[in-house]
Parts: sequence; structure tokens; C-alpha cells
Amino acid sequence: MSGTHSGTTVLVTGASGGFGAASARRFYAEGANLVLSDLNEEALAALAGEFSADRVATLAGRIEDEVLSEALVKLALDRFGRLDIAFNNAGIAYRPTKLAEIDSDEARLVIAVNTLGVFYAMKAQLPVMEAQFRAGGKGGVIINMASVAGVVGAPGGSIYAASKHAVVGLTRSASIEYARRGIRINAICPSFARTAMVQNILDDGDDNATDLVRGIPMRRLAEVEEVVTAVMFAANPANSFMTGQTLHVDGGLTAF
Ligand SMILES: NC(=O)c1ccc[n+]([C@@H]2O[C@H](COP(=O)([O-])OP(=O)(O)OC[C@H]3O[C@@H](n4cnc5c(N)ncnc54)[C@H](O)[C@@H]3O)[C@@H](O)[C@H]2O)c1
Repeated sequence: MSGTHSGTTVLVTGASGGFGAASARRFYAEGANLVLSDLNEEALAALAGEFSADRVATLAGRIEDEVLSEALVKLALDRFGRLDIAFNNAGIAYRPTKLAEIDSDEARLVIAVNTLGVFYAMKAQLPVMEAQFRAGGKGGVIINMASVAGVVGAPGGSIYAASKHAVVGLTRSASIEYARRGIRINAICPSFARTAMVQNILDDGDDNATDLVRGIPMRRLAEVEEVVTAVMFAANPANSFMTGQTLHVDGGLTAF
């Protein structure tokens, strides 16, 4: 199999969802072996069924359980011998709610999934990538899914924004710590895109799609493939000097 990621191992969390599944398909098309994880076991199995069995491994579970990330890294090593790229993408949102009305249990869950999930993932992935680098080979690439809500405020989404600002903080800090250890770490920051997450917000709340795109210069939602293009750019081995960055895929929102 020839392609930009031929023979590499790529781990994707939240793999059954919009960005996760689309990026898994792109990495596979470019030659990668896949380690896929999601909470939704059924959807995960359906996605894996699209790929050749010798090039995909799956493990369902909750990303806020630290042991899942450890098991995923072990699965990558057992099945494919290395871990080259990790796309830490699993995350949750909630219908727009003013801060004082956010249920505290829900707030804890958002932080656990969106922030600690990325922390546990990197904690398991970094030592393996560093060891690969020290053994004289290539280290690895980590791509964390943040959001524009990781770099600017999100009215109605304060805890979500806090959880994603924390992902940006983890990304920037770790990128410096591991810059000379063969590991590049960047974050993707999309505005609202056409996935199930946004459809749920539209279905549950008073907002319509026009409300969601009002502040966006391009006045539209992002297409999933436009976000995946940024993921592939961050992952590309030719993009070897870029680390610690937030890639804003937001129709110009953060240009203000
Ligand atoms: N869609 C957007 O507009 C948008 C914008 C910015 C950032 N994001 C981020 O992109 C990421 C992917 O979201 P998406 O839009 O593809 O949504 P999605 O709902 O289609 O996909 C999210 C996936 O994560 C899985 N998941 C949820 N909770 C989990 C948990 N506790 N453990 C493991 N897996 C879990 C879901 O089953 C789902 O398959 C999220 O981190 C989200 O915050 C989305």
C-alpha cells in the first residue's frame, strides 16, 4: 500500500463520530493501519467493517477511564508494533446553557471527557513515541481536538470552552516539553461543523443553523472534510517544523 501514511499506525478516539470516522477513512486511504476507539461499540464495529481486517483494531470504552488510553496504546503495539499518530478527538458538548444554570455533574463530565480524556491519552502515548525516537527512529505526532471555544469565549458553552481551553494548554505545554524528543503536538480548533454533535444542539435547543453561523465571516457551518483536511495537514510528515499550534478552521471567526 503506498500513500503518505503507508505502514504507519494511527490511533483515533471518538472514531465513530463525524470527524473521527472521516479522518479514519482518510488515514486508511493513505496507507495507515488503524486503532479505533469510541463509546459507541456498534458504530465502531460498523466503521471497522469498512476496512481490511488486517489493518484495523478496535477497542470500545469511555475516554475518561484512564485504563482505556493505556489499553489503546498497548493494542497499537501488540497489533502493529508502533504508534505513529494519535488523533485525540473524543469529546462531548451540551445544549446552550448560561453558566449559573449548568448542572455541576454535567460540568464534571465535560471536563472529564474533553480535558482529562486528552490528558490520559497523551500520558499513555508520549512515552511510547519518545521510546521510538530514542531507539533511533521516528517519534510521533499527536493531534488534539480542541475547538474555537478553546481560544475564544463561547456564550452558552462556558464549561465546554473551559474544557477546550485546557486542551490548548495541554497541547502547547506538552509540545514544548517534547519538541526535542521527536514528537509534534498540535490542536485543531473548528467552529461549528456539520456533525451529529451540532445536529443534537440544533435539535435540543432554540438555535437554528443561522444563529450558529451569525458571527462567522463565511456565514456557514464547516463541512466535515474541511476539518479533516486540517487534521491531515497537522499529521503530514512533511509538516515537520509545526508544533504547539492551534489550527483554526473557523471561516474567519478568530480573525477578528
Ligand atoms: N462538530 C463541531 O462543530 C465541533 C466543533 C469544534 C470541536 N468539535 C470537537 O470535535 C470532536 C468530535 O466531535 P464531532 O463533531 O465529530 O461529534 P460526534 O458527536 O459526531 O462525535 C463524537 C464521538 O465521540 C464519542 N464519545 C462521546 N463521549 C465519549 C466518551 N466519554 N468516551 C469515548 N468516546 C466518546 C461519541 O460516541 C462520538 O462517536 C469533539 O471533541 C468535539 O468537541 C466539534
